[in-house]
Amino acid sequence: MPLHPENETTLNPTTNESILDVIDQVAPGRRRFLKFTAGGAAMSMSALPLSMKAAHAAPPPVGGIGFTQLAADTAPVTDAVTVPPGYTAKTFYAWGDPISSGSAFVPNAPMTEAEQLRRAGMHHDGMHFFPFPTSGAGGFSNERGLLAINHEYTDEGILHNSTSIGTVTQTAAMTRTSQAAHGVSVIEVRKVGGTWGVVRPSPFARRITANTPMKISGPAKGHPRMVTAADPAGENVLGTANNCAHGYTPWGTYLTCEENFNGYFGTTTPLTGGAALTDLERRYGISAGGFGYRWHLTDPRFDIRATPNEPNRFGWVVEIDPFNPASVPVKRTALGRFKHESAAVVVGADNKVVVYSGDDERNDYIYKFVCSGLFNPTNRGANRNLLDAGTLYVAKFNSDGTGNWLPLVYDPTNANGLGPANGWADQGDVVIRARQAADRVGATMMDRPEWIAVHPTTREVYCTLTNNTRRGTNPPSSNSPAGTTGGGSARPPVDAANPRPDNRYGHIIRWRETSNDVAATTFEWDIFVLAGDSLSAAPNLQGNINDSGIPGSSDYGAPDGLWFDANGRLWVQTDQQGDALGDWVNIGANTMSAIDPSNGKTYRFLSSPPNCEVTGVITTPDGKAMWINIQHPGEDWSGTFTSKSAWPDNAANGATGVALAKPRSSTVLITKDDGGVIGT
Ligand code: FEO
Ligand code: CA
Ligand code: CA
Ligand code: CA
Repeated sequence: MPLHPENETTLNPTTNESILDVIDQVAPGRRRFLKFTAGGAAMSMSALPLSMKAAHAAPPPVGGIGFTQLAADTAPVTDAVTVPPGYTAKTFYAWGDPISSGSAFVPNAPMTEAEQLRRAGMHHDGMHFFPFPTSGAGGFSNERGLLAINHEYTDEGILHNSTSIGTVTQTAAMTRTSQAAHGVSVIEVRKVGGTWGVVRPSPFARRITANTPMKISGPAKGHPRMVTAADPAGENVLGTANNCAHGYTPWGTYLTCEENFNGYFGTTTPLTGGAALTDLERRYGISAGGFGYRWHLTDPRFDIRATPNEPNRFGWVVEIDPFNPASVPVKRTALGRFKHESAAVVVGADNKVVVYSGDDERNDYIYKFVCSGLFNPTNRGANRNLLDAGTLYVAKFNSDGTGNWLPLVYDPTNANGLGPANGWADQGDVVIRARQAADRVGATMMDRPEWIAVHPTTREVYCTLTNNTRRGTNPPSSNSPAGTTGGGSARPPVDAANPRPDNRYGHIIRWRETSNDVAATTFEWDIFVLAGDSLSAAPNLQGNINDSGIPGSSDYGAPDGLWFDANGRLWVQTDQQGDALGDWVNIGANTMSAIDPSNGKTYRFLSSPPNCEVTGVITTPDGKAMWINIQHPGEDWSGTFTSKSAWPDNAANGATGVALAKPRSSTVLITKDDGGVIGT
């Protein structure tokens, strides 16, 4: 793939230097601070599956797991965030809180676009802490940094303070406010006098929304499928949406992932005859009504028959320089277009860079992008467009515990099926239609890939497969046009990597690249854990979680967020939908647990308010301050948003004097009362 030298400055198109560029000039060696530890055994692995190689499993976490885990959770779920004795959880940054200067959030006041643009967006998800460089030990601060936080989607009823949102007339102002509630926050955070808070005002504070100007780079830049009337060059796009999980690079940038972008598009044009949905639209779940946002009624950009190529400009990984508030975010199309759920960057001992990313759809795929260039630890600018050139692969999990990374590379000879004879035009076409390219080469359909986490020393890779109840005995001729009405008819049979026909509780798969080479095209894998409820009536739902001594207390379902801290603790967060009480005996609320990857022992650390998702997790480099996100507490599709949760402004959460019934997504700060490392 060609490099795009004209893009050399797109990440930072201004002449302003970011703080990290300045630091590079001052002390080049210190830019290593975000690099993954390159230690660990670089031993060559045989072809045995991981499960037969216990000696090669990840080592126990440094410092161990020492907290008193929470008991099994049952109904009714407490409308609060609960953490173990000796820990404190505190609401830190909720929807509507100012990012910088300005007045406090006023409950039940109408939210306008102008207000929303200077306040936290809704539905916080993936998140990263970028420490400020310092001259002290380690070269980075444990007391000051930037938090970059995704705002995945909105509850339109809460946003517009309406209990009849589905029936009110959509106005342009409502659309603009909703678009402003999406995207990303960058906020400055600092510990002062022993207490963490948001720095207000801060020159770094920034909201990126569904209308923020962005660049398109990589193979799809300028492609005919990316061209619109407003952007005839196909290289400038407005905004990002449905930013779910995330990633971060060792050169200090944030990667935000566009997941269910299809839901924002729609049309009132009848989809018949010449206006019928195309195969491309169907494969990505584009439909007339979308998810009910109704943006298309006032913004033709989101009307698929007014602006048919606009959906192709979403579904990407977006790179943001949080240290330069004037930088233009860049959609890195070389990484492929799908419903990205996390973009886990790994640097090999040889400075090779790869990005793992899952496509969160029932029966969709896991991808890996291998950069052509190498990470330069001493020159930040040299890494600026590293994500524009390389090879995109998709995973095939073989039944013998081995796996293959199948390249998704345009081939003029059509030897791999991705050539003109099968209708492929070029590499831009391949990345824009990445799902169909992956269908063509025979990738393994997975049970909804969510987050991917990489062990800090062994580089063993773990991926949550959150759930899938759409497996059966009806193998499709090609993958499901998932997301279309009814989700298509595909019900692929179970396979070794996705072994449960009714995988309501999900599982975690892991793999290790051959010879521990991040760029390897083969790997070995095993299933790390089948999630479940040990007291469930159905054996298929019980799982095999290695509890930590209290039977059932470690149970969880729908693993989603997954992250290794620097000491090797594996943190898993859950996103079970709805009331979660049907046949959930031990799983009352969504949770976050710490897992020892050396033996799978699982310890429940946090339980949540009702009907939320626990997501987003990061600590300061010293591990002593942790932030997590509570997304959509009390989510209630009936529109009566008061019935399930009033967190965080409720008495059960310790709030007083707040006459507010509407729950708010929020970042939560967790500290240990003795000042120690979280998890010990
Ligand atoms: Fe937005 Fe796949 O979770
Ligand atoms: Ca997720
Ligand atoms: Ca999820
Ligand atoms: Ca979510």
